[in-house]
Amino acid sequence: MSSSQTWDVGEFAKAAAVTVDALSAYVDESQRGQVPVVRRTAPPDVPSALGDLVHGVTNNVMSVYEMGAAAATVEFEVLRWMLDKALVANACATATGLYDDLRGVGEFCREHGIWLHVDGAHGASALLSPRHRHLLDGIDLADSVVWDAHKMLRTSGVAAAVLTRDEAALDAAFHQEASYLFYGEQRFDQVRRTVEGTKAALGLKIFLNVAWRGEDGLGDYVARQYETAHRFWELAREYPGVHCPYEPDSNIVCFRVGDGDQRVLRDRLIDEGSFHLSSVEIGGVRHLRLTAMSPATDEETLRALLRRVTRLATEP
Ligand SMILES: Cc1ncc(COP(=O)(O)O)c(C=O)c1O
Repeated sequence: MSSSQTWDVGEFAKAAAVTVDALSAYVDESQRGQVPVVRRTAPPDVPSALGDLVHGVTNNVMSVYEMGAAAATVEFEVLRWMLDKALVANACATATGLYDDLRGVGEFCREHGIWLHVDGAHGASALLSPRHRHLLDGIDLADSVVWDAHKMLRTSGVAAAVLTRDEAALDAAFHQEASYLFYGEQRFDQVRRTVEGTKAALGLKIFLNVAWRGEDGLGDYVARQYETAHRFWELAREYPGVHCPYEPDSNIVCFRVGDGDQRVLRDRLIDEGSFHLSSVEIGGVRHLRLTAMSPATDEETLRALLRRVTRLATEP
């Protein structure tokens, strides 16, 4: 469509057989599990969706070139390099939501000349909450950190960053020959440092979200989710038949209800549409796993979940 053409939504909807009802049904279905205890991604804030809309219309990719099978090879080599040389610390761990002792691990790595990579995909956002940033104490010792905005900073997926202490490390990690792309001194371009050939521009949606809520606003969101999970843990410990193996650090809390198959409980909750939990093995034993993500999850939600799941555990 050229810029002189007009955009007729009605005509498009007719041609594509898209109806408002169909779209509404799609949105409703997509939102299943968002409320009240949600899946692992945060519900995106509207400004980040605006970023997606802008990119959708402009197709503003950061660099475009063909790499094909080479991308897989590079990715494999980077992983091999990391596994060979690096120690990965969790901040926090996906399964349990617990933070490693980053300072202890970091000092060990410094002493032994080991590269420290911190997986802060989920939990680095706690840096924005004054009440929780102590969990990241020692992250300053990391050589590299991964941080996902699409987990706790309320952007749509994907919006992730790999941060390195030394900028040159990124250049060293990615070696490619492509004379049509690389020719001596070039302006700022991430093209030297990507695995993908075509890369979505991710910064805008993070930028708009920070502009909309501010660092404090995003920190408040993180704090609220972490405190919600902690509150669940407090309530759960009072329930007979509910076992929590540890006090949660983050918005992830694991627990078991009764001695039965926890996957059956999970499936029944999801099938009836009441709550969306995940599940995970800890020490070989399967647990239910709650990730507090939705701003709508409140004390009553947590109590309702405990009532429901303990009732289900006693039903045949
Ligand atoms: C700590 C951590 N690292 C990495 C990942 C993978 O993130 P993604 O699926 O967005 O690539 C997850 C996902 O849950 C995570 O919790």
